[in-house]
Amino acid sequence: MKDRTSFGRTILLAKKTCKDFPNASTNQNTKRWLLNKTESEPMNQTLEVKLPPSRPMSIPSHEDLMRQHLRDENLPEAVMPACPINKVLRGQKALVTGANSGIGQAVALALAHAGADVVINYVSRPEAAEAVVKEAMRCGASVYAHQADVRKEDQVQAMFKKMIQEFGTIDILVNNAGLQKDARIEDMTLADWQFVLDVNLTGQFLCSREAIREFKRRGIRKEVSCAAGKIICMSSVHEVIPWAGHVNYAASKGGVMLMMKSIAQEVAPHRIRVNSVCPGAVRTPINMEAWGTHEAYRELMKLIPYKRIGEPDDIGRAAVWLASDDSDYVHGASIFVDGGMTLYPGFETGG
Ligand code: BGC
Repeated sequence: MKDRTSFGRTILLAKKTCKDFPNASTNQNTKRWLLNKTESEPMNQTLEVKLPPSRPMSIPSHEDLMRQHLRDENLPEAVMPACPINKVLRGQKALVTGANSGIGQAVALALAHAGADVVINYVSRPEAAEAVVKEAMRCGASVYAHQADVRKEDQVQAMFKKMIQEFGTIDILVNNAGLQKDARIEDMTLADWQFVLDVNLTGQFLCSREAIREFKRRGIRKEVSCAAGKIICMSSVHEVIPWAGHVNYAASKGGVMLMMKSIAQEVAPHRIRVNSVCPGAVRTPINMEAWGTHEAYRELMKLIPYKRIGEPDDIGRAAVWLASDDSDYVHGASIFVDGGMTLYPGFETGG
């Protein structure tokens, strides 16, 4: 049984501030990961990063790994997006689940940058959630953190009730909370199967249902959006790519795909838009083993035609677009943000 986010040793890394966010992807020197178990973890003044026990103390930075790989392969330098996020979500109220680190944190900050007020949902590590709240508030947004386990119906309902009391309503739900508990099929316990399905799939169902109830009750607010509400499900390339050793995770994401599309079909006439973002390999603690060494990075790049790992900001930008009226006619879509991982890269030379 392997929990991909459990590590042994600890190092400290510097924190990136909200002020840096619009150029976050261009700040090649910033190290912004952290970890612990399950969804993701905090961004404190100094980040505690635990490394596998076997790893040497001086690890190469992600930028070093990327540059060396591109040099080795004689490929062009990776230039990161620098365009600022526009205030396309001004006046809208958003809830992001699992928002105290990794992709959820980046999405919450991107929405705040785009002008939304944001609820930062988390289940553990309140100090991490508070750090995200502080950072998002620097964008001028109203923000607060709310602890709720998305597997629990009563906690989800209480979270929506509080949000409606505090913000008046909800316009954007980002179903982000998710985790991995990896094991070979013969070693996977029922508890680990169930846990992943409960968080990754049932959690998205419970939150979507509450959001839709409120969207229908309230209807369209023309002054903020053409739609009565938007739901963005965090799926994965593994909603279509089978993943040996991760059957619970892949099954949960395959489930998210048809849950999302079925809800989309049902609620479309009410002008409620429902879509998914499907990240590929994004540099977060959840998959550090896949990018933390030269060897791992080289192996990973065999799966990514665009030849760079994804950054949480790549997902944040996609979420802002899906939440905004710029994507008003996009509905029931799985948007792959994966550097081409779903293009069957093995066929570049084979077949
Ligand atoms: C998983 C990552 C993995 C990526 C590509 C994501 O959904 O959470 O651990 O690196 O898919 O395989």
